[in-house]
Amino acid sequence: MSTTLEPDGTHEGLPAYRFDNRLGGPVLSHHERWDEMAGTHGGFRSTVARGFWVVTDGPAVQEALQDWRTFSSTSVTVLEPDPKFLWIPEMLDPPTHSVWRRLLGRFFSPGAVAAREPEVRQVAGEMIDELRTRDGAEVLDEFARCFPTLIFMRLMGLPEEDLGTFLAWTHELLHLSHREDPDGARQLTAMAEVSAYFEEQIALRRKAPRDDLLSTAMAWTIDGEPIDDRDMLGFCVLMFQAGFDTVPISVGWALYHFAAHPEQRAEIVADPSLIATGVEEILRVYSPVVPARKATRDVEIGGCPVKAGEMVMLPIVVANRDPERYDNPLEVDLHRKATNHIAFGSGPHRCLGSHLARLELNVAVEEWHRRIPHYRIAEGQELWQHGNMYGIKSLRLEW
Ligand code: HEM
Repeated sequence: MSTTLEPDGTHEGLPAYRFDNRLGGPVLSHHERWDEMAGTHGGFRSTVARGFWVVTDGPAVQEALQDWRTFSSTSVTVLEPDPKFLWIPEMLDPPTHSVWRRLLGRFFSPGAVAAREPEVRQVAGEMIDELRTRDGAEVLDEFARCFPTLIFMRLMGLPEEDLGTFLAWTHELLHLSHREDPDGARQLTAMAEVSAYFEEQIALRRKAPRDDLLSTAMAWTIDGEPIDDRDMLGFCVLMFQAGFDTVPISVGWALYHFAAHPEQRAEIVADPSLIATGVEEILRVYSPVVPARKATRDVEIGGCPVKAGEMVMLPIVVANRDPERYDNPLEVDLHRKATNHIAFGSGPHRCLGSHLARLELNVAVEEWHRRIPHYRIAEGQELWQHGNMYGIKSLRLEW
């Protein structure tokens, strides 16, 4: 993939492109393309599917994420302005959204997350101990993906023996290229299997509640009404998507980054107190998540003349790599004083799992470098990243 886009005329006086965020590309190509588009465009139109606006101005991205009245979450997928599904709480607007967030808050609060630290550290440590006896590994499959997924399954109360099945579903749902799944059939099959799995888990807990997040959530009332099975399923599917891929992707970026920058690796090994800033910087520089919203009225945002009902893509990456906001914005700076990024979003939908994500990332980087301080990217690999949410597809390290 070159960093330039294929022009496709103009729309309302702005340039239009065949811009499809689902496509993968060589490692860092999406980031470089966003840098280029942010530097040369105030916003543009994509002509893919029914068409959508793409905001490339950092402050405008943040403003839209905060203004839920104008930029609704009733659709968060640019290709589906009128979805038939409802992911909870992601696709709810306040006030119902606020009720869910209040109820969920106590499971993801700083205190609740801190209490899980010994368990998180033990799981990560055991997995890395197994790897260090070898001289290399494909670190996404063998560590970055299984470590947070296992923690998350425990939190939700799902059987640990299903870990392999979950990892396979994540792959089918989120990582297939257009060539591997040209008509989306594999993705649809996986989504049907995930839904059937959660329907069964919900039914089991309706019969006999357990001491887990799922059972607790099933006993809640929203506006005085119990949560029905359809909404419980929407909640499970969202948690699956939100919690399963983001941390693995970020652990992958951290290992890639410190493999590609041995001088910074030496610094964090010598002084692990630098890891916390390093993790924030990796979240900022590699920003994998690209939210979207549906306009509730005609509005101009970041120079785009958006009409009511149209979709708007809000790439967080342009805010987090904005030269107006940061000195040397593209560099991971282990000594940066205030990182102040929006990798976890902004406004009412800001990531519910940010404290857990930060804990897992810090623990992964600390425990890895305590055990495997010297490593390199194995030669002869073509490093590739997937579209949608930007993460490395496969990374083989040697030590
Ligand atoms: C490094 C890891 C993570 C990153 C970068 C990340 C990023 C984000 C972002 C940008 C959003 C806002 C999306 C939007 O505005 O449309 C979000 C929402 C959310 N995240 Fe995360 N996330 C991470 C990890 C997690 C984890 C571990 C969990 C749960 C265990 C989680 C659960 C959620 C939920 C439930 C939402 C929806 C919140 C709402 O709609 O109110 N995330 N995340």
